Amino acid sequence: MGHDPRETSAPLVDAWQRARARRMHPLQVPGHKGRFADGRDDLGSDDLPSVFGGDLLADLVRDDLPMQGGADDNAYTGGYLAQAEALWAVRVGGDHARFLVGGSTQGNITSLIAAGGPERRVAVDRTSHRSALAGLVISGSDPVWVFPEIHPEFGLPLGVRPESIAGLWGDVVAVFVTSPTYVGMVSDVRGLARQCHADNRTLIVDQAWGAHLGFMPGCGAIEQGADIVTTSVHKALMGYSQTAVVTVRGGRIDATRLDRAVDLTATTSTSATLLASIDATRAVMDGHGENALASAIESTSRMRAALRRVPGLVVVDEGELGQAFDPLKLTLWLPRTGVNGVALADVLWEQGNGVEVADVDSIVMTISLLDEPEFCEETSLMLVALLERLRGEPRKPAPAALWQVVPEVVLTPRAAYFAPRRRIRLADAVGEVSAEQFCPYPPGVPLLAPGERITAEVVRDIAEAGRIGRVAYCSDPTLESVEVVDA
Ligand SMILES: Cc1ncc(COP(=O)(O)O)c(C=O)c1O
Repeated sequence: MGHDPRETSAPLVDAWQRARARRMHPLQVPGHKGRFADGRDDLGSDDLPSVFGGDLLADLVRDDLPMQGGADDNAYTGGYLAQAEALWAVRVGGDHARFLVGGSTQGNITSLIAAGGPERRVAVDRTSHRSALAGLVISGSDPVWVFPEIHPEFGLPLGVRPESIAGLWGDVVAVFVTSPTYVGMVSDVRGLARQCHADNRTLIVDQAWGAHLGFMPGCGAIEQGADIVTTSVHKALMGYSQTAVVTVRGGRIDATRLDRAVDLTATTSTSATLLASIDATRAVMDGHGENALASAIESTSRMRAALRRVPGLVVVDEGELGQAFDPLKLTLWLPRTGVNGVALADVLWEQGNGVEVADVDSIVMTISLLDEPEFCEETSLMLVALLERLRGEPRKPAPAALWQVVPEVVLTPRAAYFAPRRRIRLADAVGEVSAEQFCPYPPGVPLLAPGERITAEVVRDIAEAGRIGRVAYCSDPTLESVEVVDA
């Protein structure tokens, strides 16, 4: 009989609860001494705000508990974190997992340190999240950019296909892809793994958006053969903001190598509260996750069906694309309705329904296990009405530039990052090599990365992105100037 990896116990949650129940008064950090925990009234007051600083701090640090000297002792004698990580690893089909409080950003950096290294060549999807770029700078890996196929009509990236990585670059040691993507495309990870392994390469998958896939039999990237996978627990599932897990399987990246890379990038003052929310999420998924997930997927599919009836609206999904698509993403393509996605997102934000990302042509929303069927139904009615209210003349699509960047690479991101630099006007920078990145956020894919030649098109695209949203991670938020490599 096969081993059932489902395990509803949650060792780290139990340790967290026990530590709270002990009502410790530590002679060590944290500096707030746990005084704002619910029910603490050591000063003889029932009123936590009367404790020094409580009026501002009580609600914010109420649940804070460190891992070291909190949920466990200074020597981690209880081993609760390791137990919780082992349960996650088994559950998603991996050999070893590490919980992270630096988000999938830390997971991607960790993966590139573990699988790459100075002057080791790694094939990276150019539409990757900026954390891949950070991983390249920190690890010193030398990127070979690969470009996903772009949907001819919707202008959205379809992900990297196995054929496009077949035997192309002799000395490439690893391939980095994102699945699902921000907009919901799911890659053929099995095919990519087969191709990578045939060429003895490591497959790294940024599955930041796909934590739920790990709980659907046969759907997670680890189960599908990837060697190292990062997953945000706070995106598709229920962990605290910043929580993520990096998991390995197979011998290409062994546990020690993963540990070394995680320990290089991790804080030494980890929050047990954040980490316990990962353990709780896994245990909840093992308990009732199957039904809740099925219900959320059903609700999303009903929303798609309701929206598909809006004249001119394209609901991007598996049926529309002929390729796998994230079952919890609601991605709408708008040009034929005349609705401007940015204007639609603004109205939704004002009424308290922020969306993941919007550009003129498209808008992306995420449904989770905690969105009840009634909410989903009401929301699809609301969206239908809003689309009708904002309807305009059908227009030609204006695909977002950031999915289609094909840069001239002059230096590696690391070489450009550490090179001497000077600041000049962005408008005067055509022909120079950028020392920094310009990254519309969301979705966090760089329009321009360190080491890339600045072109008239990218200067125009940066200005346009700045008109409709935030361009982040550049040194001049006004977008007037740029730091270029001082050759
Ligand atoms: C594809 C992708 N990878 C990684 C990240 C980073 O995730 P986190 O915010 O958990 O650090 C994001 C964030 O949006 C993302 O979209």
